[in-house]
Amino acid sequence: MKLTNEIIKKSWRDIYGCSYDEGLNFLLDWWKTSDIPIKDLLEKISQRYPVQYIIGEWPFFEGNYLINEDVLIPRPETEQLIEIIKSFALNPKNILDLGTGSGCIAIEISKIFPEAKVVGIDKSESAISIAKKNNLQAKNEVIFKCSDWFDNVDEKFDLIITNPPYLPKEMMCQDLEFEPKLALFADDNGMECFKEIIMKARTYMNIDSWIFFEHLPVQAAELNELLQKEGFIETSKICDYNGKYRYTYGRT
Ligand SMILES: C[S@@+](CC[C@H](N)C(=O)[O-])C[C@H]1O[C@@H](n2cnc3c(N)ncnc32)[C@H](O)[C@@H]1O
Repeated sequence: MKLTNEIIKKSWRDIYGCSYDEGLNFLLDWWKTSDIPIKDLLEKISQRYPVQYIIGEWPFFEGNYLINEDVLIPRPETEQLIEIIKSFALNPKNILDLGTGSGCIAIEISKIFPEAKVVGIDKSESAISIAKKNNLQAKNEVIFKCSDWFDNVDEKFDLIITNPPYLPKEMMCQDLEFEPKLALFADDNGMECFKEIIMKARTYMNIDSWIFFEHLPVQAAELNELLQKEGFIETSKICDYNGKYRYTYGRT
């Protein structure tokens, strides 16, 4: 075991240097009980195959999420979105997570608001099937279903949360190679999904309800404008831990 650990470490350092030891530590811990042949593991490391997909699960906020190539790898920025919503001390009775992927936002939010009805939708059937598995594991009551944004949604909500695809296609890079394109990229400089969601959202929101977005810092100003144009009030943007505007919200 000690020798194979050293071989894994060396192959990891050849690819990532010392810049990403958190991933290496997760991998070594998982390796203790894994039965994948070492040759296959080294091959995956050399291809920069994400450690999260190798392990097949990843921690997010207070949960642990099954993931595969059908869903986005949950990001720390999105954990901060959950923190922000928690800090608003809202009391929503029903909550919608648009573009739920692994279900990580919806499931963690349902733990914060245990009395609320939480719905998570995604266009990808395979993402929804992963979200449903995570739902069972967390013993939660989130309703997961397939929908192209609001197409299969027929009720109103007090809180909508969305981390939609928002990267312009030019931002494609090697690090994103294995994640689903549907989860990452949007036309119109990454604004396409925001525009569609903002245009339709009010129809699915109760009076005095809230909508929260995660986005690129460069998209913050346009998003605020779009929300105001659609009649949302109290719109504002919030910085991430790196001091970049990463979240925007508004109220009906
Ligand atoms: C950035 S990922 C977010 C996944 C997850 N909520 C998270 O934060 O880790 C965006 C998600 O939106 C979904 N999506 C893309 N286009 C969609 C559409 N037209 N309708 C519904 N979901 C869509 C993708 O399948 C993907 O799961």
